[in-house]
Amino acid sequence: MTKNDTATKLVISSVSKRFGDFLALDRISFEVSTGEFFVLVGPSGCGKSTLLDLLTGLAAPTQGSISLDGKTITGPGLDRGVAFQQYALLPWRTAQANVELGLEAKGLPRAERRRTARHYLDLVGLADFADRYPAQLSGGMRQRVAIARSLAFDPEVLLMDEPFGALDAQTREGLQDQLLQIQRSTGKTVVFITHDIEEAVYLGDRVAVLAPRPGRIKRIFEIELPGRTSGDEDLRSSPVFGRYRHEIWRELREAGERRERPAEREARVA
Ligand SMILES: Nc1ncnc2c1ncn2[C@@H]1O[C@H](COP(=O)(O)OP(=O)(O)O)[C@@H](O)[C@H]1O
Ligand SMILES: [Mg+2]
Repeated sequence: MTKNDTATKLVISSVSKRFGDFLALDRISFEVSTGEFFVLVGPSGCGKSTLLDLLTGLAAPTQGSISLDGKTITGPGLDRGVAFQQYALLPWRTAQANVELGLEAKGLPRAERRRTARHYLDLVGLADFADRYPAQLSGGMRQRVAIARSLAFDPEVLLMDEPFGALDAQTREGLQDQLLQIQRSTGKTVVFITHDIEEAVYLGDRVAVLAPRPGRIKRIFEIELPGRTSGDEDLRSSPVFGRYRHEIWRELREAGERRERPAEREARVA
């Protein structure tokens, strides 16, 4: 392993976020290594998107700090690529032209833009659909264009907020495999957000369980799944997969029950 493989890419250091009186995130701390696939899993409303906004630099933490390659994040930057649940493709541009978007922002010459966009469309299996408009593509294809676009400008970190949330189960599993392959082959650092436990276990090198009210990290799991990168079809039904799924489910349930205790509800109202 070279030194770079184990370098720390992202440092989230005791980050809190308030909206007025409401504490959305409470002293979140974790680090992500270069080339790691890091997953945050938690129920709706626990602060996942809020945390992603802080990572993109679209919002600032109330307390604490976030750094990328040792530099504090103070705003949006091309070192971070983002993919959301909504595809956010421009409907009047072809798949190719959508992927070229980030490259225009980077100031790449036209020929190089075309070549790079082709390469990434090819990588997500859409070489034959480069000239189609978003309306002519399925939901899964649109999301692949969005992923190609995020990858095309070669960001240090790929930030993904429930990118497969709107897709049917089969399309979703196909894209999970594709994303894993791309991540392994490019060595990208990924921070991936989901509320789906199975998706978290399948994708994550590590999975951080977020508990709500206030949003905080309950536990971080290291996931060791023999067979994941070799495309083992039965992985999801294997005992080791089931154990992780169950343990994470238990952590989330515990967090939910804790939230529902009446004394705490009153304390929150007061
Ligand atoms: N701009 C905002 N102003 C006030 N409250 C907000 C704002 N953004 C998010 N929240 C609240 O913060 C909590 C976490 O929201 P969010 O990060 O979107 O959760 P998740 O993505 O996990 O579903 C929610 O209770 C939400 O209502
Ligand atoms: Mg969200």
